[in-house]
Amino acid sequence: MMRTNTCGELLKKDIGKKAALAGWTHSRRDHGGIIFIDLRDRYGLTQVVFDPKHDQKTHSGAEHLKREDVIAVKGKVRARGEGLENPKLKTGEIEVLADELEILNKAATPPIEINDRLDINEDMRLKYRYLDLRRPIMQRNLELRHRAIKAVRDFFDKEGFLEIETPMLAKSTPEGARDYLVPSRVNPGKFYALPQSPQLFKQLLMVSGCDRYVQVVKCFRDEDLRADRQPEFTQIDIEMSFIDEEDIYGINERMVKHLWKETLGVDINIPFPRITYDEAMDRYGSDKPDVRFGLELKNVTDIVKASSFEVFTKVIKSGGIVKAINVEQGSAKFSRKDIDGLINFVGVYGASGLAWIKAAENGLESSIVKFFSEKEQKELIKKLNAKKDDLLLFVADHKHFVVNTALGALRVHLAKKLGLIKENSYSFMWVTDFPLLEFDEDLQRHVAVHHPFTSPKDDDVKLLETHPEKAKAKAYDMTLNGVEIGGGSIRIHKREVQEKMFKALGISQKDAEQKFGFLLEAFNYGAPPHGGIAYGMDRIVAILTGNESIREVIAFPKTKNAESLMEGSPSEVSDEQLKELNLKLDIVKK
Ligand code: AMO
Ligand code: AMP
Repeated sequence: MMRTNTCGELLKKDIGKKAALAGWTHSRRDHGGIIFIDLRDRYGLTQVVFDPKHDQKTHSGAEHLKREDVIAVKGKVRARGEGLENPKLKTGEIEVLADELEILNKAATPPIEINDRLDINEDMRLKYRYLDLRRPIMQRNLELRHRAIKAVRDFFDKEGFLEIETPMLAKSTPEGARDYLVPSRVNPGKFYALPQSPQLFKQLLMVSGCDRYVQVVKCFRDEDLRADRQPEFTQIDIEMSFIDEEDIYGINERMVKHLWKETLGVDINIPFPRITYDEAMDRYGSDKPDVRFGLELKNVTDIVKASSFEVFTKVIKSGGIVKAINVEQGSAKFSRKDIDGLINFVGVYGASGLAWIKAAENGLESSIVKFFSEKEQKELIKKLNAKKDDLLLFVADHKHFVVNTALGALRVHLAKKLGLIKENSYSFMWVTDFPLLEFDEDLQRHVAVHHPFTSPKDDDVKLLETHPEKAKAKAYDMTLNGVEIGGGSIRIHKREVQEKMFKALGISQKDAEQKFGFLLEAFNYGAPPHGGIAYGMDRIVAILTGNESIREVIAFPKTKNAESLMEGSPSEVSDEQLKELNLKLDIVKK
């Protein structure tokens, strides 16, 4: 037996026992001839002592140990000397006095430090990911990810869900990102698409009578990457038959409660608050509002429309709006230079400027105050609940979306900067009543906000032919602390409604048949009413582990350029491979 215990296991109660441990040499200290090694494995660190007075041979073996050498030691567990306990370490009360040392493998000097306290360049971490994953924090992230996925699987298993695998090589699905394509060797000129989600398959499983489906599944989307987006990511994908929105909300709230309890031991209150999409945009400027802090957006269009401040009145005349947030006690906290920084910040979201007013002892102060009558100023103070030393920030634009998203992003930015967000709090929310369609400027037609199989609200089916942009969807997102962690909908299950939907989307009968014909045909043979949801598991685990980026909770993630720095993918392939696939690279620039 190579080891009797792990490095995170031996405690005071084990003093006097013989133990065999194996692991990596985390650190070596030489104190007046006695060598101390911190031996590390997935489970923790144990201090091993090599004393020449106890055993000369093992001591001289330990003299040449370097960081990350792999060793096995045997010895006796003993109490650490008086005052030498390390309360930060689980095994901090004991040490192992080594009788035997076996060097299992020498290690070259690692290119990155295996240490949680160090801030290491992320590219280096990704290139040497197998070393990076040795760090205790990363081990904890992987373990928590495992626990989380297991908790979800256990929950749905108890509820009668079947985990059913769906193809990875399939036809393009409708989530609306770009597909990753895989050429078919045996069908020259034809391609599979890696699934953006199992959407169509899970709906077909409902037609098959599977009733309750769940899958922990990889999804692939070729889109611009960010901290919370990877080209391949993991969904917890769910579909249910004979249900309505309330059933979805209920079972998913219970699942989340179970998940938090199992992983963090935290009690989550259910049911979750709900907010409509319209209200979320209006009050928070976002469809995934972070409600852990205030800084709500207030519409002041009516108050300022008759003022003489042209920046505002011009946009209002062209159908625009003016909204503001009140940064309480902010006036002394932001210099002119800071405010210039905020102007640049909102610029990224398309805002052409950011007007500001400071609230003082007797009224408002700013270079633009002169443009507002006394009455207008009073109304602004009232509407924004402005008190002495508050800072009021305004965005005006003819596009309502620009005003909302710019101020929505600004409120989150300011809350982080001002420390208004309570750590370790979990604020879940359902966002409901999404619009069914939105106009895509590039395509010059309507596109589905969720996907083309999402059902309109019953009363809005008739709008599909007259005012499709006014129709609301039976779609919902689950948000947590301002992150969209899941989204889904009740589906269309009747062929005639689906056809109306395609028409509203400007998808011809022929195109619909060609792309989704198999689903439409299936709907002819008795499709039950059904609906579902999918969670971004990487995002959930990132929040559970207190990480901003999902890369921290994925064993082998890609960079923002969709590259793996470790194995060097994507990479060129040989001419033979291309030939076999009937592909020719004639437009790739060197
Ligand atoms: P949707 O497209 O909203 O819905 O995706 C569901 C959830 O997946 C997560 N997510 C991502 N996570 C990491 N990287 C990405 N690139 C990425 N893209 C999405 C988000 C999101 O809420 N088939 C539908 C679900 C349904 O209707 O049942 C779907 O895929 O957390
Ligand atoms: P200007 O007249 O362009 O110098 O702008 C006067 C003030 O209004 C400056 O503080 C600008 O930042 C601000 N401002 C300009 N455009 C907008 C806008 N679209 N929304 C809010 N404030 C703006």
